[in-house]
Amino acid sequence: MVELAGGSEQTAVTDQQVEELLKDWVVDSEDLIAAMLAVQEKYNWLPPEALDYISRRLNVRKPRIYHIATFYRVFSLVPRGKHILQLCMGTACHVRGAELIAGAMSRQHGLQFGKTTDDGLFTLERVNCLGACAIGPILVVDGEYKGNMTTNRTNAVVKRLKREAAKEEGANA
Ligand code: FES
Repeated sequence: MVELAGGSEQTAVTDQQVEELLKDWVVDSEDLIAAMLAVQEKYNWLPPEALDYISRRLNVRKPRIYHIATFYRVFSLVPRGKHILQLCMGTACHVRGAELIAGAMSRQHGLQFGKTTDDGLFTLERVNCLGACAIGPILVVDGEYKGNMTTNRTNAVVKRLKREAAKEEGANA
């Protein structure tokens, strides 16, 4: 079990679940990074049980796997939400109101820098200048830059993602 921001827990990933991801195409240690990417894509992070399994399955020592996991930014060794929100807190964005946005995200949606919400829906990250100061404050939503953000626009984005997640959950129920 892995603990999330508010103390809730995430169920451990089983060998069978990881094998399901790899069984049709992973052959040997040549496929290590691709296998790690498949796990990252599925879970949005690299659960330790999954790395244990990959280590055994591909006969690769764990230090090598953890070295790769920390070297490439695409990998995360801590749980991340379904949606990654990155708020630029560089000087220009700060001056244009990023701090207000961060405060509103915290008050309205419980989003805190460096944390994943209890429902696993969002991870909020603080980033520095993204090189688009002229259209700051910038919020990056799952890799997509959104400029000239305000507290209202940010609220609308988060609410939309919540609505979509609820709809998806309803459809899968
Ligand atoms: S300070 Fe935010 S993009 Fe430059």
